Amino acid sequence: MSRIHRAATFGSSRARRGPAALSALVVGAALAIVPSTPAGADAGCAVDYTVNDWGSGFTANVEITNLGDAVNGWTLEWSFPGNQQITNLWNGSHTQSGANVAVTNAGYNGSIPTDGSVSFGFNANYSGSNAAPLAFELNGVLCDGAVDPDPDPDPDPDPDPDPDPDPDPSDRVDNPYVGADVYVNPIWSANAAAEPGGAAVADEPTGVWLDRIGAIEGNDSPTTGSMGLRDHLDEALEQADGDPLVFQVVIYNLPGRDCAALASNGELGPEEIDRYKNEYIDPIADILADYEDTELRVVATIEIDSLPNLVTNVSGRPTATPECDVMLANGNYVEGVGYALASLGAIGNVYNYVDAGHHGWIGWEDNFTASAQIFYQAANAAGATPSDVHGFIANTANYSALKEDHFAIGQTIGGVPVRQSSWVDWNNYVDELGFAQGLRQELVSQGFPSGIGMLIDTSRNGWGGSDRPTGPGPQTSVDAYVDGGRYDRRIHLGNWCNQSGAGLGERPQAAPEPGIDAYVWMKPPGESDGSSELIDNDEGKGFDRMCDPTYEGNARNGNSMSGALPDAPVAGHWFSAQFQELLDNAHPPLN
Ligand code: BGC
Repeated sequence: MSRIHRAATFGSSRARRGPAALSALVVGAALAIVPSTPAGADAGCAVDYTVNDWGSGFTANVEITNLGDAVNGWTLEWSFPGNQQITNLWNGSHTQSGANVAVTNAGYNGSIPTDGSVSFGFNANYSGSNAAPLAFELNGVLCDGAVDPDPDPDPDPDPDPDPDPDPDPSDRVDNPYVGADVYVNPIWSANAAAEPGGAAVADEPTGVWLDRIGAIEGNDSPTTGSMGLRDHLDEALEQADGDPLVFQVVIYNLPGRDCAALASNGELGPEEIDRYKNEYIDPIADILADYEDTELRVVATIEIDSLPNLVTNVSGRPTATPECDVMLANGNYVEGVGYALASLGAIGNVYNYVDAGHHGWIGWEDNFTASAQIFYQAANAAGATPSDVHGFIANTANYSALKEDHFAIGQTIGGVPVRQSSWVDWNNYVDELGFAQGLRQELVSQGFPSGIGMLIDTSRNGWGGSDRPTGPGPQTSVDAYVDGGRYDRRIHLGNWCNQSGAGLGERPQAAPEPGIDAYVWMKPPGESDGSSELIDNDEGKGFDRMCDPTYEGNARNGNSMSGALPDAPVAGHWFSAQFQELLDNAHPPLN
């Protein structure tokens, strides 16, 4: 049993200002901004978070220092990056829902004068890693050591330290989504608006997928339509109308694409890395460079599903495929991702976000650190450096719930841990928010810049409608408890194709939670994940039985039914029945 003592400081109190305070900051904590506002002005705080950790549990001491006006009554809030579960707490009272914790003062320590401190402590259990929370908020104000004369509820843990009042448009900002609108793809928007009820969401921003070489110029295909990249960028400038605008583009054309499945195989063979570089990435980079000095902020989502496949679907795993073994051995996924990062990262207004799978894939201990390591390897390949990576995206085109409120990793039911339920199956995470925040910490500890942010694709993870549980399941068994309470109603977490019962998730929004740059709809809702039977096409797409509702599964979905909707068209083509179901099951519901 190892006993580790770690201290993390959030924000800098004035006493600790300077380089020493900076070095005490943990990764992901706010940069120490030396307050320019005089002492005693409105709101501001710093938090010291200290733990004694014995491997499966820990005791934490939390000291709050009030840097603003005197406080009478306080609530401190944070999200745990992992599955930490508080068992008891002293000098305050607490609530915990999933990863989210709120602690309120006890009767005797509610007042904190300016520059005064109060402390509370707690015991907690955990498994996996025990990273410190990314950020704390005192009475709704981020504890970043700054004193804010106008209390800012924005929970972004890493505020842009550049106070330049007239920024060069190509200066990268900390979070590109803050203070910017996001591009609405007119092609998707028209498809959505043409559906009954679709007008409610037709003006939401979605990703523009460059899913093959022809899409760069526009190829009139059902997947990408008539607009090429340049057409989209020109239209984006119109929408921007002089103000910052995020343009979301998906880079998705690796050699040997989609090595563990067939539905989204692409046009390039496993060895065609030179065509990927010369005919795909280079032309995209050339076009984007023409828009470098504009008000556009180009969010480039890099190569969905590719790197995680090299961890989980290769020899030595029951889920291995020969195609993924080839892509691991020839190095072309790593080389291609590195090349994309380096080429696009050289453009001042491009923000690269690498695909990081989702919790129902990478959340297990075996997969988590190994994935972070391979992401780091790719970020150092083909001329890339980790500073070419602005962040990562979780849950792209997947269905994993954002927050499961009715069960958590640290809980036990009748002495049986929730992790042991068939649904959780020893995963360290139960939802995408906890996963994304935890992975962010892991990525920073692997060497990525501490300012990286996460995106979560919430396009289809709403799981609303009348079947949505309103409370926990019965405590008769751990399976009854988890299954009765979970929002995600897939038959198995490994199911991914056109899932029956899914709904639109959180609407796209900036800086919704600590460490999260945005909720986005990267997958355009209503576009198929794959055909439910073999359909001839000239896009390289195959037929994957995970899209066939009669399929009884394989090792990657625990040999379960696929849960796919019937009568689906080829991946990327409009699937009206699915769109209708996504509207019906939207959560939050549509107005
Ligand atoms: C397809 C792409 C499509 C994307 C967005 C993927 O599954 O393979 O062709 O552009 O989904 O719908």
